[in-house]
Amino acid sequence: MTESATTAPIPTRTPPVADSRGSQAARADAPAGASWAVTRQLSVIVPTFKERDNVVTLYHRLEATLAGVDWEVIFVDDNSPDGTWQAVRDLAARDTRVRCIRRIGRRGLSGACIEGILAASAPFTAVMDADLQHDETQLPRMLALLQSGEAELVVGSRYIEGGSADAFDRSRLGISVAATMVARRLLGVKIADPMSGFFMIRRDRFEELAPSLSVQGFKILLDIVATARGTLRTIEVPFVFGSRQHGESKLDSMVALDFFGLVLAKLTRDLVSLRFLMFALVGAIGLAVHLVTLDLAMLVLDGSFAEAQTIAAFVAMTSNFLLNNVLTYRDQRLKGLAIARGLVVFYIVCSVGLLANVGVAFSIYNQRPIWWLAGAAGALMGAVWNYALSSLLVWRRR
Ligand code: GDD
Ligand code: MN
Repeated sequence: MTESATTAPIPTRTPPVADSRGSQAARADAPAGASWAVTRQLSVIVPTFKERDNVVTLYHRLEATLAGVDWEVIFVDDNSPDGTWQAVRDLAARDTRVRCIRRIGRRGLSGACIEGILAASAPFTAVMDADLQHDETQLPRMLALLQSGEAELVVGSRYIEGGSADAFDRSRLGISVAATMVARRLLGVKIADPMSGFFMIRRDRFEELAPSLSVQGFKILLDIVATARGTLRTIEVPFVFGSRQHGESKLDSMVALDFFGLVLAKLTRDLVSLRFLMFALVGAIGLAVHLVTLDLAMLVLDGSFAEAQTIAAFVAMTSNFLLNNVLTYRDQRLKGLAIARGLVVFYIVCSVGLLANVGVAFSIYNQRPIWWLAGAAGALMGAVWNYALSSLLVWRRR
């Protein structure tokens, strides 16, 4: 059971019927005999992870602020261990405007937002945090800007006149401001707060962009704006970023990496993925690990090269596996027993990768004996092989 003792009781609410409001006359194109009309105006998407104590409060606030609007709210929860999804289900059972998407085996703010928007039924969709840091009283104003056609995207902005991010500590503010500058310079993004997690967008425009968006990471708005390349008519409205009431932030220092990856992908028009780059970087670290281990093992084993090389190879593969598990594939990180199984599969994948590496290098060297060309081609072959096969077999998506 989930608590809701601290909040007001939730009256049962049935779907809107034609006579509940004068404006809801049944549409001429509705199926014969249907008493409903298509009037939903706004879908609010709320990604959640461990927000159990916030969702009921947010629901009540939405209900108060959106009194004159036909709205729905879609919570997208990544199977929170605190049972956030259960609290949302309890709400949904009483009010059909509330829905819960419970995702299992997946993590990620951007992916959650994308799935929520794609599940929305209204022509206008808002994204906001569950933790009450976003000012929901701005929603009607944002909606009016979309409905009037003045904008296709409205951004809740902390960095324009009237907005603020005082709830951030100084280091967090510094990172946020720096990332914003990089995004504006490198990606040509024009808005003041592309890192905002609070915005509203026309669903049709979003659906055009959706296939090009990254489900990894958390910079969904930046991704949308960068992918649209200036084609979205955008207006920013200021809001004051509040402080969290319950729970804690899920954004850790790794977000810097996500950000870097997104900038890179957008700069190279999605040619270079962060995953592959991370994998290659880990591989380069592995080379250093290998050489250091080899040096030590030679000392300890008194110069037996073959044994030392074998030990070094295993140490390097193991460290590559562990690093990839926490960096490259941190959203699909293996835990517990799955680590042992993954490690064994990784050894096998890398061994075959080594054969592919040497094979390619040899055949190139046979045609043109340029050692560095043959060596680099072999290494690239090995890296691509290891990457492709390990993402398929070791860190496969469930
Ligand atoms: N489904 C899902 N999956 N939701 C998530 C995940 C996830 O992996 N990670 C975080 N969330 C949800 C949280 O539950 C919350 O509702 C919202 O996404 C924002 O997460 P916070 O952890 O509260 O982020 P923050 O307050 O530190 O960061 C805010 O400010 C950033 C700007 O600096 C967010 O608004 C960010 O989106 C924003 O970029
Ligand atoms: Mn937050």
